[in-house]
Amino acid sequence: MLRLIGSPDAARCQDAAQWAAAESYGCTVLADGSRVTIRPITPDDRPLELAFVRGLSRQTRYQRLLSARDLAPDELRRLVEIDRSREQALIATVTMDDGSEDQVGVARYVRDSRDGGEAEVAIVVADAWQRRGLGDALLRALFQEARADGIELLYGITQFTNRGMLRLAQRLGFRVAHQPGDATLMRIARTMEPRWMERRRAVAGVGG
Ligand SMILES: CC(C)(COP(=O)(O)OP(=O)(O)OC[C@H]1O[C@@H](n2cnc3c(N)ncnc32)[C@H](O)[C@@H]1OP(=O)(O)O)[C@@H](O)C(=O)NCCC(=O)NCCS
Repeated sequence: MLRLIGSPDAARCQDAAQWAAAESYGCTVLADGSRVTIRPITPDDRPLELAFVRGLSRQTRYQRLLSARDLAPDELRRLVEIDRSREQALIATVTMDDGSEDQVGVARYVRDSRDGGEAEVAIVVADAWQRRGLGDALLRALFQEARADGIELLYGITQFTNRGMLRLAQRLGFRVAHQPGDATLMRIARTMEPRWMERRRAVAGVGG
């Protein structure tokens, strides 16, 4: 569904040469031919993240935050100024005609504890970019980060009506089960196996 391109002159993915050196993120071509750059978030991305969250539909925001509320300023700061000893966040951006960057998705995880092997994952894709393979690309890139950070299990909580997230999770090899104590929520969980095991899984057509 996606391929990473390493050509420095790849139109619109201006960081391609830099990111091609890394296996886990870079200039990504979606199935419909659109190009996005997947890269770690930085504190300078606060305006991008704010515009991204403000541009989400009520439903998408609700599915992500389990509420349609706006972000508090401190919450926004914490989303971009991440603590790398516990978290990682990758954003997907596109380059607009005027050369500016626009954020179209974000996937992140936060460890339960500083030394723990389990981390909670969350993802959101801009409404206009949903169902184009971006969620898949972001989570696959995040898996690489999680492995490099020594995370053994990624898990998340989503509404049982969230067909998009449940489908994406199943496609990527998460186990999906009811969240104990709340019939409206589902828990998804996936172990982060070594690369060779992931490749075997990918050849078999699951996850990867
Ligand atoms: C869930 C979400 C991240 C999926 O991202 P996406 O970019 O649309 O996902 P993809 O395009 O990679 O699709 C992956 C699979 O899910 C399916 N899918 C995506 N949205 C779907 C929907 N609304 N209904 C049914 N299937 C859906 C795709 O068809 C694809 O299935 P396939 O492999 O059989 O073709 C996105 O819909 C979103 O941001 N939702 C709001 C926030 C949210 O719910 N976050 C999860 C809780 S943290």
